[in-house]
Amino acid sequence: MSRLVVISNRVAVPKARGAAGAQGGLAGALNAALKKHSGIWFGWSGEDVPEFTGETSEQTFEGVTTVTMDLAKQDIDEYYNGYANATLWPLFHYRLDLAEYEQETAKGYERVNERFAECVAPMVEEDDLIWVHDYHLIPLGERLRARGIENRIGFFLHIPWPATRLFVSLPYHERLVRTMLRYDLVGFQTAEWLESFMHYCEKELGAEVDEETGCITFEGRRTIARAYPIGIDYEHFMSHEAGSDAREAEQRLVTSTRDRTAMIGVDRLDYSKGIPERIDGIGRFFDKYPECVRDLVFIQIAPPSREDVESYQQIRAELEQKTGEINGARSEVDLVPIRYVNRGYSQAELFGFYRAAKIGLVTPLRDGMNLVAKEYVAAQDPDDPGILILSQFAGAALQLKDAILVNPHSPDDLARAINQALEMPLKERKERHQKMLVSVRDENVQEWTENFRRDLAKVSQYA
Ligand code: G6P
Repeated sequence: MSRLVVISNRVAVPKARGAAGAQGGLAGALNAALKKHSGIWFGWSGEDVPEFTGETSEQTFEGVTTVTMDLAKQDIDEYYNGYANATLWPLFHYRLDLAEYEQETAKGYERVNERFAECVAPMVEEDDLIWVHDYHLIPLGERLRARGIENRIGFFLHIPWPATRLFVSLPYHERLVRTMLRYDLVGFQTAEWLESFMHYCEKELGAEVDEETGCITFEGRRTIARAYPIGIDYEHFMSHEAGSDAREAEQRLVTSTRDRTAMIGVDRLDYSKGIPERIDGIGRFFDKYPECVRDLVFIQIAPPSREDVESYQQIRAELEQKTGEINGARSEVDLVPIRYVNRGYSQAELFGFYRAAKIGLVTPLRDGMNLVAKEYVAAQDPDDPGILILSQFAGAALQLKDAILVNPHSPDDLARAINQALEMPLKERKERHQKMLVSVRDENVQEWTENFRRDLAKVSQYA
């Protein structure tokens, strides 16, 4: 079987593995994939050095070999804080108002992608399958091709692909998409993002697009584009059920919320997650049902993320103000309606918190998939399951249709959903949970990896 060479901006290096926090879905998913296939995982170490040297360091842990490189401070500013997280991330999450278009950061992005290619190319063996991940590394396939790498190379985008009319606001948008078409296989989380991408290729690039097979023909080359919805590592996640960390965490929440219903939100502190809008919805619920203030407690866990990017500093300040206002107005001496926690917890603790919370609020304004929604469902007690309130704009909504789906922009809709959740009879809760659990269990991360890997391995049949 071919070796797998996985490349992503961030790798879960052993010291960080299993650690709490702002890892996001990607790192955990890739760790699971690499455990199964021999190969290497290459990425940035997370460290900065005065000058880029091209030196790499390698370590093997639990059968997964990770190779990392350090980046120069300027590289991190322009590539990670700049183009990736102040240009592409907001634009791809439909936040044109936050997207910055600076030539310097665009150049830094290109330069760092070249650095990735420089370090990875010498490691590639003839039969390797190369799998590049996410918006940080869109041009990497092209850079590897320029170094003579002829292996099959796939790319997976973990975040949404924006509608064409938004995407064309990006200077040099065509250049970016041309680099996407140097991959053999391009994967998206949902059919919606896939359609937007194909639409762009057809209408703006004039590529020939076969929607049935996902084949895009452009300048004599063929790329296959498909949707591969990512899942959780179900078995691993469920292994927490029997562990003491999860039980203790569950107990901690149950004890501290006493006879009040706990609602939970767990998100990286990111404006795409719709946290202020969620809090407005809770405020609206309290306005409409003031008698319920004593019955509910909302726990928002939000570990800070990308703290050097201005829009992230702003969202943090906004949330501090908003939670302060609601708590100031609604608290009693013995009651605080919102617990806002700026730290991460281990997956086992989160399992316990999810199980203790009778309502899970996952209401991003736009999200590639959202694995918190899937973990929340998995963690529920099937005999007395909690209810998931899920944004219709999360990729996960296409699979978890039995959640209470909401428009996260509308405080009234959020208030309506909370009320519906509180009134839902046990029978309906169980039926909805059962259906969602089947999807979460079966459409798991192993399936996702296998599907992508299998298609990449046979892609030469199409090209
Ligand atoms: C999202 C992205 C990932 C990213 C993660 C955490 O899930 O799709 O690529 O790793 O967020 O963000 P960070 O900037 O901390 O890596």
